[in-house]
Amino acid sequence: MDTNIVWHHATVTRERRNQQNNHKSMVLWFTGLSGSGKSTLAHAVEEQLHRIGCRTFVLDGDNVRHGLNGDLGFSSEDRKENLRRVGEMSKLFIESGTIILTAFISPFRKERRQVRSMMPHGDFIEIYVNCPIEVCEKRDVKGLYRRARTGEVKEFTGISSPYEIPQSADLTVNTDLQTLEESVENIIDLLKEKGVF
Ligand code: ADX
Repeated sequence: MDTNIVWHHATVTRERRNQQNNHKSMVLWFTGLSGSGKSTLAHAVEEQLHRIGCRTFVLDGDNVRHGLNGDLGFSSEDRKENLRRVGEMSKLFIESGTIILTAFISPFRKERRQVRSMMPHGDFIEIYVNCPIEVCEKRDVKGLYRRARTGEVKEFTGISSPYEIPQSADLTVNTDLQTLEESVENIIDLLKEKGVF
């Protein structure tokens, strides 16, 4: 980093924004295999939060990789950089007073731990979107599992690239066993418990 760059402090602070919004800002970090239901769940939770007047935003792997992270692929190094940038973005969203919901596979424990440590005061809630790979593969919404099996798509999570199951998730939802509504309810309950609103 250039040593001539100095941090500029805002007078409208996160605390003032949180007070005005009547809720805390937070990161809800959804992690899980491709097709496990991260995006569906993130959007469904956002819908509920929006209805009760919360400021929210969903950052989704497929979308972010079209724009800001369009230069990155799926090697371990690129996934690491993908998540570092998403972590930095999430931090800015927290400062802006937003409840940010991120839906990235985020397959490595170390990187998930690193993003957690970037957020001050425990403002990071890790949600493991658990779904057996057989079920994700059967759903195969984007046809990527089939193409990964033939080797056409390389380094595919769960097939030819690892997914490290979370050991420190704040909540696990089982999308093959629970309905979407049940999973959303579990998450909203957790937010209430944590005093987000
Ligand atoms: S992460 O590993 O860096 O967190 P991210 O969530 O951004 O991944 O992107 C995953 C999405 O990219 C998947 O849902 C899938 O649609 C698509 N994708 C394309 N190639 C791969 C691959 N090799 N491994 C995993 N996902 C892939």
